[in-house]
Amino acid sequence: MSVSSNAPTVAIVGATGAVGQEFLRLFEERNFIHGDLHLLASARSAGTTTEYRGEQHTITELTEEALEGIDIALFSAGGSISKAYGPTAAAAGATVIDNSSAFRMASEVPLVIPEINGDLAESYRTGDGRGRPGIIANPNCSTIIMMVPLHEVRRRFGIERLVISTYQAVSGAGAAAMRELDAQTRDVLEGREPTREIFARQCAFNVFSHDSKVHSETGRNVEEQKMIDETRKIWCDDHIRVTATCIRVPVMRAHAESINVTLRQPASEAEFRAALEATEGITLVDDREANDFPTPLEASGRDPILVGRVRPDESMPSEGGKHCAFDLFVCGDQIRKGAALNAVQIAERVMGS
Ligand code: A2P
Repeated sequence: MSVSSNAPTVAIVGATGAVGQEFLRLFEERNFIHGDLHLLASARSAGTTTEYRGEQHTITELTEEALEGIDIALFSAGGSISKAYGPTAAAAGATVIDNSSAFRMASEVPLVIPEINGDLAESYRTGDGRGRPGIIANPNCSTIIMMVPLHEVRRRFGIERLVISTYQAVSGAGAAAMRELDAQTRDVLEGREPTREIFARQCAFNVFSHDSKVHSETGRNVEEQKMIDETRKIWCDDHIRVTATCIRVPVMRAHAESINVTLRQPASEAEFRAALEATEGITLVDDREANDFPTPLEASGRDPILVGRVRPDESMPSEGGKHCAFDLFVCGDQIRKGAALNAVQIAERVMGS
């Protein structure tokens, strides 16, 4: 085990969940150095075990006492657990990296995508690499998967407006939602009436508007609003115009997004592509000849966000070979870069590894 007695004590809150389990895989893959590891979940799971680095580790119940003596706490057990226990963990001395939306828009809480504003996480670094107490928020998965591919484009040309349509995997609603898609698919194929517990709508063989609450006046659902608000906060740009339509599709764990981007300064297609080629955290999959473009299946289980279908939007003005808008299609693993990987990368920045 990559455990060092001098290394930070780490807690995973929600260790039995889809994201919690991915933390363990990422720790192993990335040789994440930690000291004692506390795997916390609800009383339902207390006493059960989970495998990590070839050994069985016992899950313990999340309590206030369980959060004492922790240096880095990775939370992924839903917003209400984060609200109830995140400040407690921080007050007890931990750097909390929170996957929920509970603190994302709080002005004192940094909202971090390491490729974009990782310096905010570094400001939590202490001399001994344990991190200073406080909460750092991990953005919404759709926001991360949209913003990472556009960061260098924005740096070179500026971004005026974004129009996004998402095709979101069920993993965003947790491990139980993934089991529901699996069970419903079997039910339909075997001629049974599919049971619905997590989603109000049948997700197998269906597509539906995102299952978050819709605002009665704006008509936007919570997921769409998050994409708008979080994009503005991360890019420190209150004026960027963002509109999104968020849709759930019967895909297990990777989101796809169609993005139309209007630039502040027009670019040729070659210049736009050069910006994408220089972007950290993405892989271009864009072979027009072979009709080979990103798919959620190919993005699943992988770190980079796949980017393709790159083309000028000819419905918008262009002059002298320079275009003010482009279209692209991206796919990214919702559990990895959309959640666990981004949080582990934040922890690495805090620890200086
Ligand atoms: P448990 O498995 O014991 O219910 P997902 O996002 O995949 O649905 O996972 C949610 C995670 O949050 C799980 O690890 C789950 O643990 C954990 N969790 C849910 N409710 C609580 C709670 N009241 N206290 C601690 N952990 C919780």
